[in-house]
Amino acid sequence: MTDLDQTFLREVLNGLACTQKTIHPKWLYDQRGSELFEDITDVPEYYPTRTEAKIFQSAFPDIKKRFPEIDAVIEYGSGASKKISPLLNSIRPQIYIPIDISEDFLKESAADIQRQHPDVQVRPIVGDFTSDIELPGDIPPPENRLGFFPGSTIGNFEPGTAVPFLSRVRKSLGDGSHFLISGDLIKDRDVLEAAYDDAGGVTAEFNMNLLDRMNRELGANFDRNSFSHQAVFNEDAGRIEMHLVSLKDQTVTINGTSVNFAEGESIHTESSHKYTVDSFEAMSRDAGWKFETFWTDDLEYFGVFLLSA
Ligand code: TRP
Repeated sequence: MTDLDQTFLREVLNGLACTQKTIHPKWLYDQRGSELFEDITDVPEYYPTRTEAKIFQSAFPDIKKRFPEIDAVIEYGSGASKKISPLLNSIRPQIYIPIDISEDFLKESAADIQRQHPDVQVRPIVGDFTSDIELPGDIPPPENRLGFFPGSTIGNFEPGTAVPFLSRVRKSLGDGSHFLISGDLIKDRDVLEAAYDDAGGVTAEFNMNLLDRMNRELGANFDRNSFSHQAVFNEDAGRIEMHLVSLKDQTVTINGTSVNFAEGESIHTESSHKYTVDSFEAMSRDAGWKFETFWTDDLEYFGVFLLSA
């Protein structure tokens, strides 16, 4: 086995030994998982991506008006950088710094953005958010920096890790900087659950792909037909939880280790935290940010928040 497979195996076996079986969400995103994730953003029930895009249409020009002096835009976890073009067109910074953990992906998408925006200096940085984030020394000062963290990705952080991350971002951007971050808002349970369990089964497929991946990469023998995808709104925790639920009592073998599942027992695979405007503000304040303003849609489904350091 490769090094990656050893880590994957160790984490899977540890996670499945817990009372609430769990597997870290990062393992959902292999090639197929990443493709399926892109598809999720287009399904009719998944409102966040298109609602956010619509809010950005009024938020970006508004930010430009309030802070015409923004010279550097720093995107945390830029991935495919799919949301950045409208922002660069509105704000017109001198420098765009996409930061991502995946070097190949980052270089490729940075080159794309550079082609589309020849007037902007694109300076990608490979970085991991679990440790301090170091920006280059020669970029415009904090007052002229805007951080960008779209997609309600903060909602996917495990409890206890969101505030430390927001503090690290604040430290990297510096006093006087601004940060544009989005968060999905608490709403009707049915709307929330449908968004993570679409009728076409794309999200189910995304979750089930983890079973296929373990079979492929860890020599496991999960039977897809003996598990089902579940998305539940855990109201107390304020989050949607994705689970893979065992449909019967069964034993699965993973690289020679047996793991028992009772009927109804689940593997928790990912969470997506939902906020009120107040709870988002409180979380931001805990990380040392000041709350400037926020934008939402007509239905108040989604929030885009502007913070200052
Ligand atoms: N952050 C977004 C959300 O929580 C996107 C996302 C991450 C997502 N993981 C997901 C969407 C799994 C659907 C399923 O909604």
